[in-house]
Amino acid sequence: MEIGIPAETRAGETRVAATPETVKKITTKGLHRVFVQAGAGAGASIPDEAYQEAGATILTDVTQLYSQSQIILKVRGPQPEELTQIRKDAVLIGLLSPHDADRISALVNHGLTAFAMERLPRISRAQNMDVLSSQANIGGYKAVIIAANIYQKFFPMLMTAAGTVKAARVLVLGAGVAGLQAIATAKRLGAVIEAFDVRPAVKEQVESLGAKFVEVTLTEEEKAKAETAGGYATEMSEDYKRRQGELIHERATAADIIISTALIPGRSAPVLIKEETVKAMKPGSVIVDMAAEAGGNCPLTELDQIVVKHGVHLVGIANLPGLVAADASALYARNLLNFLSLLLDPESGELRIDRQDEIIAGSLVCVNGEIPK
Ligand code: NAI
Repeated sequence: MEIGIPAETRAGETRVAATPETVKKITTKGLHRVFVQAGAGAGASIPDEAYQEAGATILTDVTQLYSQSQIILKVRGPQPEELTQIRKDAVLIGLLSPHDADRISALVNHGLTAFAMERLPRISRAQNMDVLSSQANIGGYKAVIIAANIYQKFFPMLMTAAGTVKAARVLVLGAGVAGLQAIATAKRLGAVIEAFDVRPAVKEQVESLGAKFVEVTLTEEEKAKAETAGGYATEMSEDYKRRQGELIHERATAADIIISTALIPGRSAPVLIKEETVKAMKPGSVIVDMAAEAGGNCPLTELDQIVVKHGVHLVGIANLPGLVAADASALYARNLLNFLSLLLDPESGELRIDRQDEIIAGSLVCVNGEIPK
Protein backbone atom coordinates (compact mmCIF):
# COMPACT_ATOMS: atom_id res chain seq x y z
CA MET A 1 0.00 0.00 0.00
CA GLU A 2 1.01 3.60 -0.54
CA ILE A 3 0.40 5.64 2.59
CA GLY A 4 0.52 9.45 2.53
CA ILE A 5 1.21 11.85 5.40
CA PRO A 6 0.41 15.42 4.30
CA ALA A 7 1.35 18.46 6.36
CA GLU A 8 -1.62 19.70 8.39
CA THR A 9 -3.11 22.87 6.94
CA ARG A 10 -5.54 23.95 9.63
CA ALA A 11 -4.37 27.15 11.35
CA GLY A 12 -2.42 26.40 14.52
CA GLU A 13 -2.29 22.63 13.95
CA THR A 14 1.24 21.63 14.90
CA ARG A 15 0.72 17.88 15.15
CA VAL A 16 1.50 15.29 12.49
CA ALA A 17 -0.15 11.90 11.91
CA ALA A 18 3.04 9.81 11.65
CA THR A 19 6.46 9.92 13.28
CA PRO A 20 9.75 8.30 12.26
CA GLU A 21 8.96 5.55 14.77
CA THR A 22 5.63 4.67 13.15
CA VAL A 23 6.99 5.10 9.61
CA LYS A 24 9.70 2.57 10.42
CA LYS A 25 7.14 0.07 11.71
CA ILE A 26 4.94 0.53 8.65
CA THR A 27 7.75 0.14 6.12
CA THR A 28 9.84 -2.50 7.87
CA LYS A 29 8.44 -5.57 6.08
CA GLY A 30 8.63 -3.89 2.69
CA LEU A 31 4.88 -4.28 2.16
CA HIS A 32 4.08 -0.57 2.24
CA ARG A 33 5.58 2.71 1.08
CA VAL A 34 5.15 5.92 3.05
CA PHE A 35 5.14 9.39 1.47
CA VAL A 36 5.62 12.33 3.81
CA GLN A 37 5.11 15.91 2.65
CA ALA A 38 8.26 17.98 3.15
CA GLY A 39 7.96 19.93 6.39
CA ALA A 40 5.01 17.85 7.69
CA GLY A 41 6.81 17.25 11.00
CA ALA A 42 8.16 20.77 11.45
CA GLY A 43 5.52 21.81 14.02
CA ALA A 44 6.46 18.80 16.14
CA SER A 45 10.22 19.33 15.65
CA ILE A 46 10.61 16.29 13.38
CA PRO A 47 12.95 17.01 10.46
CA ASP A 48 12.36 15.50 7.01
CA GLU A 49 15.66 13.59 7.29
CA ALA A 50 14.35 11.66 10.31
CA TYR A 51 11.39 10.43 8.24
CA GLN A 52 13.72 9.60 5.37
CA GLU A 53 16.02 7.57 7.62
CA ALA A 54 12.96 5.68 8.87
CA GLY A 55 12.11 4.66 5.32
CA ALA A 56 9.76 7.38 4.05
CA THR A 57 9.95 9.20 0.75
CA ILE A 58 9.75 12.97 1.16
CA LEU A 59 7.61 14.74 -1.43
CA THR A 60 7.59 18.51 -1.79
CA ASP A 61 4.60 18.44 -4.11
CA VAL A 62 1.47 17.66 -2.09
CA THR A 63 -0.54 17.00 -5.28
CA GLN A 64 1.87 14.18 -6.07
CA LEU A 65 1.51 12.84 -2.52
CA TYR A 66 -2.28 12.77 -2.76
CA SER A 67 -2.29 11.24 -6.24
CA GLN A 68 0.06 8.41 -5.19
CA SER A 69 -1.44 7.56 -1.78
CA GLN A 70 -4.19 5.05 -1.32
CA ILE A 71 -4.30 5.60 2.43
CA ILE A 72 -4.11 9.10 3.90
CA LEU A 73 -3.27 9.59 7.57
CA LYS A 74 -4.20 13.00 8.96
CA VAL A 75 -4.67 14.74 12.27
CA ARG A 76 -7.59 16.99 11.22
CA GLY A 77 -10.18 16.43 8.52
CA PRO A 78 -9.21 17.83 5.10
CA GLN A 79 -10.00 21.41 4.14
CA PRO A 80 -12.04 21.74 0.90
CA GLU A 81 -8.94 22.47 -1.22
CA GLU A 82 -7.20 19.38 0.17
CA LEU A 83 -10.21 17.16 -0.35
CA THR A 84 -10.29 17.84 -4.09
CA GLN A 85 -6.76 16.40 -4.34
CA ILE A 86 -7.44 13.14 -2.50
CA ARG A 87 -7.95 10.11 -4.74
CA LYS A 88 -11.56 9.01 -4.89
CA ASP A 89 -10.57 5.41 -4.08
CA ALA A 90 -8.54 6.53 -1.06
CA VAL A 91 -9.02 5.58 2.58
CA LEU A 92 -8.83 8.57 4.91
CA ILE A 93 -8.11 8.21 8.63
CA GLY A 94 -8.10 11.08 11.13
CA LEU A 95 -10.09 13.33 13.45
CA LEU A 96 -12.84 14.01 10.91
CA SER A 97 -15.43 15.79 13.13
CA PRO A 98 -18.18 13.18 12.61
CA HIS A 99 -20.77 15.36 14.38
CA ASP A 100 -20.38 17.98 11.65
CA ALA A 101 -22.83 16.88 8.94
CA ASP A 102 -21.38 19.24 6.28
CA ARG A 103 -17.88 17.86 6.71
CA ILE A 104 -19.05 14.27 6.48
CA SER A 105 -21.21 14.93 3.41
CA ALA A 106 -18.17 16.50 1.70
CA LEU A 107 -16.29 13.21 2.25
CA VAL A 108 -19.29 11.21 1.04
CA ASN A 109 -19.67 13.37 -2.08
CA HIS A 110 -16.01 12.85 -2.88
CA GLY A 111 -16.60 9.08 -2.88
CA LEU A 112 -14.16 8.31 -0.07
CA THR A 113 -13.84 5.57 2.48
CA ALA A 114 -13.17 7.35 5.76
CA PHE A 115 -12.62 6.51 9.41
CA ALA A 116 -13.29 9.14 12.09
CA MET A 117 -11.10 8.36 15.07
CA GLU A 118 -13.53 10.19 17.39
CA ARG A 119 -16.03 7.37 16.73
CA LEU A 120 -13.81 4.60 17.99
CA PRO A 121 -15.77 2.52 20.51
CA ARG A 122 -14.47 2.97 24.09
CA ILE A 123 -13.76 -0.77 24.55
CA SER A 124 -10.60 -2.29 26.01
CA ARG A 125 -9.41 -3.75 22.68
CA ALA A 126 -9.47 -0.21 21.22
CA GLN A 127 -7.55 1.45 24.05
CA ASN A 128 -4.24 1.59 22.18
CA MET A 129 -5.99 3.33 19.24
CA ASP A 130 -8.00 5.76 21.35
CA VAL A 131 -6.93 9.19 20.12
CA LEU A 132 -9.54 11.00 22.22
CA SER A 133 -7.90 9.59 25.34
CA SER A 134 -4.29 10.11 24.26
CA GLN A 135 -4.95 13.72 23.30
CA ALA A 136 -7.27 14.56 26.23
CA ASN A 137 -4.61 13.27 28.58
CA ILE A 138 -2.10 15.73 27.11
CA GLY A 139 -4.69 18.53 27.11
CA GLY A 140 -5.41 18.01 30.82
CA TYR A 141 -1.72 18.25 31.62
CA LYS A 142 -1.13 21.37 29.53
CA ALA A 143 -4.25 23.09 30.93
CA VAL A 144 -2.72 22.97 34.41
CA ILE A 145 0.69 24.11 33.18
CA ILE A 146 -0.91 27.11 31.44
CA ALA A 147 -2.96 27.94 34.52
CA ALA A 148 0.17 27.79 36.70
CA ASN A 149 1.92 30.08 34.26
CA ILE A 150 -0.82 32.72 34.33
CA TYR A 151 -1.62 32.46 38.04
CA GLN A 152 0.29 35.07 40.01
CA LYS A 153 0.81 32.91 43.08
CA PHE A 154 2.45 29.61 43.93
CA PHE A 155 0.74 26.25 43.53
CA PRO A 156 2.43 24.54 46.53
CA MET A 157 2.23 25.58 50.14
CA LEU A 158 5.57 27.10 51.14
CA MET A 159 7.00 27.98 54.53
CA THR A 160 9.75 30.52 54.07
CA ALA A 161 11.66 32.95 56.27
CA ALA A 162 9.50 35.69 54.74
CA GLY A 163 6.34 33.94 55.79
CA THR A 164 4.00 31.17 54.69
CA VAL A 165 2.43 30.91 51.25
CA LYS A 166 -0.89 29.10 50.96
CA ALA A 167 -1.37 26.26 48.47
CA ALA A 168 -3.48 27.05 45.40
CA ARG A 169 -6.99 25.58 45.35
CA VAL A 170 -7.86 23.89 42.06
CA LEU A 171 -11.38 22.89 41.04
CA VAL A 172 -11.63 20.37 38.20
CA LEU A 173 -15.01 20.18 36.47
CA GLY A 174 -15.47 16.94 34.54
CA ALA A 175 -13.27 14.07 35.69
CA GLY A 176 -12.90 12.13 32.45
CA VAL A 177 -9.54 11.50 30.84
CA ALA A 178 -8.52 15.20 30.69
CA GLY A 179 -9.87 16.00 34.15
CA LEU A 180 -8.08 13.08 35.80
CA GLN A 181 -4.77 14.10 34.22
CA ALA A 182 -5.41 17.71 35.33
CA ILE A 183 -5.88 16.44 38.88
CA ALA A 184 -2.67 14.38 38.72
CA THR A 185 -0.68 17.31 37.32
CA ALA A 186 -2.03 19.86 39.81
CA LYS A 187 -1.31 17.39 42.62
CA ARG A 188 2.33 17.09 41.50
CA LEU A 189 2.57 20.88 41.67
CA GLY A 190 1.28 20.83 45.24
CA ALA A 191 -2.25 22.24 44.85
CA VAL A 192 -5.28 21.32 46.95
CA ILE A 193 -7.82 19.86 44.54
CA GLU A 194 -11.56 19.35 44.35
CA ALA A 195 -13.27 17.68 41.42
CA PHE A 196 -16.80 17.35 40.21
CA ASP A 197 -18.44 15.14 37.60
CA VAL A 198 -21.98 14.24 36.71
CA ARG A 199 -21.01 10.54 36.69
CA PRO A 200 -20.83 9.28 40.28
CA ALA A 201 -18.71 6.35 39.01
CA VAL A 202 -15.59 8.56 38.86
CA LYS A 203 -15.58 9.36 42.59
CA GLU A 204 -13.14 6.55 43.39
CA GLN A 205 -10.72 7.57 40.61
CA VAL A 206 -10.77 11.20 41.77
CA GLU A 207 -10.07 10.20 45.35
CA SER A 208 -7.30 7.79 44.37
CA LEU A 209 -5.47 10.75 42.79
CA GLY A 210 -5.66 12.67 46.05
CA ALA A 211 -8.50 15.06 45.21
CA LYS A 212 -11.78 15.57 47.01
CA PHE A 213 -14.92 14.63 45.07
CA VAL A 214 -17.72 17.17 45.39
CA GLU A 215 -21.15 15.83 44.65
CA VAL A 216 -24.66 16.92 43.86
CA THR A 217 -26.92 14.49 45.69
CA LEU A 218 -28.65 12.46 42.99
CA THR A 219 -32.15 10.97 43.03
CA GLU A 220 -32.37 7.25 42.08
CA GLU A 221 -33.70 8.27 38.66
CA GLU A 222 -30.82 10.71 38.13
CA LYS A 223 -28.27 8.08 39.17
CA ALA A 224 -29.56 5.75 36.48
CA LYS A 225 -29.49 8.51 33.88
CA ALA A 226 -26.12 10.13 34.62
CA GLU A 227 -24.08 7.71 32.53
CA THR A 228 -24.88 5.94 29.24
CA ALA A 229 -23.96 2.33 28.53
CA GLY A 230 -20.94 3.69 26.61
CA GLY A 231 -19.68 5.41 29.76
CA TYR A 232 -20.44 8.95 28.57
CA ALA A 233 -22.33 11.68 30.40
CA THR A 234 -25.88 12.52 29.31
CA GLU A 235 -27.92 15.72 29.43
CA MET A 236 -29.39 16.14 32.92
CA SER A 237 -32.74 17.59 34.12
CA GLU A 238 -33.31 21.31 34.75
CA ASP A 239 -33.63 20.70 38.49
CA TYR A 240 -30.30 18.84 38.55
CA LYS A 241 -28.67 21.72 36.66
CA ARG A 242 -29.96 24.23 39.21
CA ARG A 243 -28.56 22.23 42.16
CA GLN A 244 -25.32 21.68 40.24
CA GLY A 245 -25.07 25.43 39.50
CA GLU A 246 -25.37 26.25 43.20
CA LEU A 247 -22.70 23.73 44.17
CA ILE A 248 -20.26 24.88 41.48
CA HIS A 249 -20.86 28.53 42.40
CA GLU A 250 -19.97 27.79 46.01
CA ARG A 251 -16.85 25.72 45.19
CA ALA A 252 -15.69 28.11 42.43
CA THR A 253 -15.65 31.07 44.78
CA ALA A 254 -13.32 29.13 47.10
CA ALA A 255 -11.03 28.13 44.19
CA ASP A 256 -8.07 29.93 42.59
CA ILE A 257 -7.97 27.83 39.44
CA ILE A 258 -10.73 26.03 37.55
CA ILE A 259 -9.91 23.44 34.91
CA SER A 260 -13.13 22.77 33.12
CA THR A 261 -13.44 19.73 30.83
CA ALA A 262 -17.13 18.80 30.77
CA LEU A 263 -18.33 17.52 27.42
CA ILE A 264 -21.33 15.61 26.15
CA PRO A 265 -20.48 13.91 22.83
CA GLY A 266 -22.29 15.43 19.86
CA ARG A 267 -23.86 18.30 21.83
CA SER A 268 -22.86 21.75 23.01
CA ALA A 269 -20.81 21.69 26.19
CA PRO A 270 -22.89 22.14 29.37
CA VAL A 271 -22.70 25.62 30.92
CA LEU A 272 -21.24 25.06 34.38
CA ILE A 273 -19.63 28.41 35.24
CA LYS A 274 -22.13 31.23 34.88
CA GLU A 275 -21.19 34.90 34.62
CA GLU A 276 -22.30 35.56 38.21
CA THR A 277 -19.95 32.78 39.35
CA VAL A 278 -17.02 34.39 37.50
CA LYS A 279 -17.95 37.74 39.11
CA ALA A 280 -17.88 36.12 42.55
CA MET A 281 -14.46 34.48 42.02
CA LYS A 282 -11.30 35.92 43.56
CA PRO A 283 -9.45 38.48 41.42
CA GLY A 284 -6.48 36.85 39.70
CA SER A 285 -8.21 33.46 39.48
CA VAL A 286 -7.73 31.44 36.30
CA ILE A 287 -10.27 29.38 34.38
CA VAL A 288 -9.00 27.06 31.65
CA ASP A 289 -12.08 26.12 29.65
CA MET A 290 -11.15 22.95 27.78
CA ALA A 291 -14.65 22.77 26.30
CA ALA A 292 -14.12 26.05 24.37
CA GLU A 293 -14.51 24.42 20.95
CA ALA A 294 -17.88 22.92 21.94
CA GLY A 295 -19.18 26.33 23.08
CA GLY A 296 -17.42 26.41 26.44
CA ASN A 297 -18.36 25.48 30.00
CA CYS A 298 -18.33 29.22 30.70
CA PRO A 299 -20.24 31.63 28.43
CA LEU A 300 -17.49 34.26 28.89
CA THR A 301 -14.84 32.03 27.29
CA GLU A 302 -13.56 33.25 23.93
CA LEU A 303 -12.37 30.55 21.56
CA ASP A 304 -8.58 30.47 21.17
CA GLN A 305 -8.16 33.59 23.30
CA ILE A 306 -6.93 34.38 26.78
CA VAL A 307 -9.08 37.19 28.17
CA VAL A 308 -9.62 38.81 31.56
CA LYS A 309 -13.23 39.26 32.66
CA HIS A 310 -14.35 40.48 36.08
CA GLY A 311 -10.69 40.15 37.15
CA VAL A 312 -10.57 36.46 36.19
CA HIS A 313 -8.30 35.07 33.44
CA LEU A 314 -10.23 32.91 30.98
CA VAL A 315 -8.25 30.59 28.73
CA GLY A 316 -10.13 29.29 25.68
CA ILE A 317 -7.29 27.64 23.76
CA ALA A 318 -8.92 24.76 21.87
CA ASN A 319 -5.91 22.82 20.70
CA LEU A 320 -4.01 22.26 23.94
CA PRO A 321 -2.41 19.00 22.70
CA GLY A 322 -1.01 21.04 19.80
CA LEU A 323 1.06 22.96 22.39
CA VAL A 324 2.75 19.67 23.31
CA ALA A 325 3.15 18.80 19.64
CA ALA A 326 6.02 16.31 19.84
CA ASP A 327 4.47 13.97 22.40
CA ALA A 328 0.94 14.59 21.12
CA SER A 329 2.10 13.51 17.64
CA ALA A 330 4.03 10.53 19.01
CA LEU A 331 0.96 9.18 20.82
CA TYR A 332 -1.46 10.07 18.02
CA ALA A 333 0.77 8.39 15.44
CA ARG A 334 0.97 5.22 17.57
CA ASN A 335 -2.82 5.22 17.91
CA LEU A 336 -3.17 5.41 14.11
CA LEU A 337 -0.56 2.71 13.57
CA ASN A 338 -2.49 0.37 15.87
CA PHE A 339 -5.70 1.18 14.02
CA LEU A 340 -4.03 0.68 10.65
CA SER A 341 -2.88 -2.78 11.67
CA LEU A 342 -6.58 -3.74 11.89
CA LEU A 343 -7.10 -2.70 8.28
CA LEU A 344 -4.02 -4.22 6.65
CA ASP A 345 -3.41 -7.93 6.17
CA PRO A 346 -0.13 -8.69 8.00
CA GLU A 347 1.03 -11.16 5.32
CA SER A 348 -0.05 -9.65 2.01
CA GLY A 349 -0.29 -6.04 3.16
CA GLU A 350 -3.63 -5.78 1.32
CA LEU A 351 -6.41 -3.62 2.66
CA ARG A 352 -9.23 -5.62 4.25
CA ILE A 353 -12.06 -3.73 5.84
CA ASP A 354 -13.82 -6.24 8.06
CA ARG A 355 -17.11 -4.52 8.73
CA GLN A 356 -18.05 -7.17 11.28
CA ASP A 357 -15.26 -5.81 13.52
CA GLU A 358 -16.80 -3.53 16.15
CA ILE A 359 -13.89 -1.08 16.02
CA ILE A 360 -13.93 -0.80 12.22
CA ALA A 361 -17.73 -0.59 12.02
CA GLY A 362 -17.86 2.02 14.78
CA SER A 363 -15.36 4.39 13.22
CA LEU A 364 -16.34 3.97 9.54
CA VAL A 365 -18.17 7.16 8.53
CA CYS A 366 -18.37 6.44 4.79
CA VAL A 367 -17.40 3.63 2.48
CA ASN A 368 -16.86 4.30 -1.22
CA GLY A 369 -18.93 7.45 -0.88
CA GLU A 370 -21.81 5.89 1.02
CA ILE A 371 -22.80 6.23 4.65
CA PRO A 372 -22.80 2.71 6.16
CA LYS A 373 -26.25 1.37 7.07
P1 NAI B 1 -15.65 13.51 27.74
O1 NAI B 1 -14.47 14.21 27.17
O2 NAI B 1 -16.78 13.18 26.83
O3 NAI B 1 -16.22 14.39 28.96
C1 NAI B 1 -15.36 14.85 29.99
C2 NAI B 1 -16.01 14.66 31.34
O4 NAI B 1 -17.05 15.63 31.52
C3 NAI B 1 -16.66 13.30 31.55
O5 NAI B 1 -16.11 12.69 32.68
C4 NAI B 1 -18.14 13.65 31.73
O6 NAI B 1 -18.80 12.77 32.61
C5 NAI B 1 -18.06 15.05 32.30
N1 NAI B 1 -19.31 15.82 32.21
C6 NAI B 1 -20.20 15.90 31.19
N2 NAI B 1 -21.22 16.71 31.52
C7 NAI B 1 -20.97 17.17 32.78
C8 NAI B 1 -21.65 18.04 33.65
N3 NAI B 1 -22.81 18.60 33.33
N4 NAI B 1 -21.09 18.28 34.86
C9 NAI B 1 -19.92 17.70 35.20
N5 NAI B 1 -19.23 16.87 34.41
C10 NAI B 1 -19.76 16.61 33.22
O7 NAI B 1 -15.20 12.18 28.49
P2 NAI B 1 -13.92 11.28 28.28
O8 NAI B 1 -12.82 11.81 29.09
O9 NAI B 1 -13.69 11.09 26.84
O10 NAI B 1 -14.38 9.89 28.94
C11 NAI B 1 -15.69 9.38 28.74
C12 NAI B 1 -15.83 8.00 29.34
O11 NAI B 1 -15.14 7.03 28.60
C13 NAI B 1 -15.29 7.86 30.74
O12 NAI B 1 -16.14 6.99 31.44
C14 NAI B 1 -13.98 7.20 30.57
O13 NAI B 1 -13.56 6.54 31.73
C15 NAI B 1 -14.34 6.24 29.46
N6 NAI B 1 -13.19 5.79 28.70
C16 NAI B 1 -13.06 4.46 28.40
C17 NAI B 1 -11.99 4.01 27.67
C18 NAI B 1 -11.85 2.57 27.31
O14 NAI B 1 -12.29 1.72 28.03
N7 NAI B 1 -11.27 2.29 26.18
C19 NAI B 1 -10.95 4.92 27.21
C20 NAI B 1 -11.18 6.29 27.60
C21 NAI B 1 -12.27 6.69 28.30
